[in-house]
Amino acid sequence: MMMMCFNNKNRSSVVLIGLVVMVLNSLVFEGIECLDYGEALTKSLLFYEGQRSGRLPPNQRVQWRGDSALQDGSANQSIQNLVGGYYDAGDNLKLGFPMAFTITMLSWSTIEYSKQLKAKNEFNNAVNAIKWGTDYLMKAHPTADVLYGEVGESDSDHQCWQRPEDMTTLRTIYMIDDHHPGSDLAAETAAAFAAASIVFRSIHMIGYSFQLLNHAKQLFAFGQKSPGIYQTSIPDAGKVYASSGYQDEMLWAAAWLYRATSKQEYLDYLSSSSDSGGVRTTFSWDDKYVGAQVLVAKLLMDGKAGSAAAALGRYKQQAEEFICSCVGKGSNNFKRTPGGFLWFLPWNNAQYVATATFVTSVYSNYLTATGATLQCSGGSVTPSDLTSTVQSQVDYLLGSNPLKMSYMVGFGSNYPQQIHHRAASIVSIKKDQTPVSCKGGFDEWFNKNAPNPNVLDGAIVSPDENDAYSDSRSNFQHAEPTTVTNAPLVGVFAHLA
Ligand SMILES: *[C@@H]1O[C@H](CO)[C@@H](O)[C@H](O)[C@H]1NC(C)=O
Repeated sequence: MMMMCFNNKNRSSVVLIGLVVMVLNSLVFEGIECLDYGEALTKSLLFYEGQRSGRLPPNQRVQWRGDSALQDGSANQSIQNLVGGYYDAGDNLKLGFPMAFTITMLSWSTIEYSKQLKAKNEFNNAVNAIKWGTDYLMKAHPTADVLYGEVGESDSDHQCWQRPEDMTTLRTIYMIDDHHPGSDLAAETAAAFAAASIVFRSIHMIGYSFQLLNHAKQLFAFGQKSPGIYQTSIPDAGKVYASSGYQDEMLWAAAWLYRATSKQEYLDYLSSSSDSGGVRTTFSWDDKYVGAQVLVAKLLMDGKAGSAAAALGRYKQQAEEFICSCVGKGSNNFKRTPGGFLWFLPWNNAQYVATATFVTSVYSNYLTATGATLQCSGGSVTPSDLTSTVQSQVDYLLGSNPLKMSYMVGFGSNYPQQIHHRAASIVSIKKDQTPVSCKGGFDEWFNKNAPNPNVLDGAIVSPDENDAYSDSRSNFQHAEPTTVTNAPLVGVFAHLA
């Protein structure tokens, strides 16, 4: 097992004083800690079981959760079955836009690191995490031009503090259709279906894979035919996940569809687009240009772009400029906290570090496969240079940081105890069936200065710009885990493990 070890204390003076003191020192201060990337990988996937909505399966490992939201889809006088999927974060909303991105990134992690996941016995867990999402997303896409993008209502949800198992909040359903466009939502969901179809094809679930691909093609066509931003049709989702545009999702979906089908039309879409994003400052649930750029760069490296190669060169150049900036060798390097963590944005910064380290990881593989190095404006960068940046970021996340705190819940001995998460912060329904009321949950659980009764293994939260962290449920900008953060990290942990 590969582990990274680091000293909690600076022991250089100890060496001078001698062996006896060194032994005492390690006894007294427990000077060495080891980071087990395999354990981080296991927990990053367990997290998804804690986020499950719907009827839990017999092989559910996170036992403190129970069945929930079994009537989803029955609001609005509808009979659409929308049971299942994932709660997006510490609330009980099901939001299609970040959920689809989560599934796309989980699929990318699984495609890129299938060997490593198998070696660690996590491949099946990764596939199950994807399938929990795709089973739901297929229900949410009943006909070609109808896609449900939200279940729940944000104000109603945020005004209550309840376990998913006994929530009493509105479960309103929202959709896009021919008269209510949402190309970003449609295309992101197409990307998720196309990427997942590659995973299921690889394990010979041919029928399922074919179904996914069909959904992907229909949704891409729908996004193309009725252009628009999804929160104009689903304003409620816009309150929490407003999209800044749809062209990035269209390119990202086209790139995944090309990878899944090798059909010329998707390559043409990429090469004929005048917009390839430019050099981006983040890769996120809102902005997928970097993802599309990296996928296109891979096509070029594999010689699979044919006569489109020249028109696609800009994608590769922009991808590489982003990665150069991640490793501090670009022309406009990303900021870091004083402790060395990449710093993008104040709200849940870990999600951006997750995607940045993911593309840096996969790029190191691409370079290794072709025997190339990356030419950055700050000098040439080898695959192992890329991996050492990734490792430094992961080590920081898992405890090698000024507070010596693991920002992954359940990992190590010092991790956040009061994350902003309804299910984790309220006694398990398996232990106490008394329903928790909408407001009662605040009085009894949210405002209680005590550790969450349930440890949500693998949940990831974020330190702030100054390497500080306030372990408080009301600190929702830093203390609320989301499904989008873990998906790329599954690949990153597999890369390091
Ligand atoms: C369900 O009802 C809400 C209003 O209560 C509305 O905003 C929403 O668009 C409706 N959804 C569908 C799918 O008709």
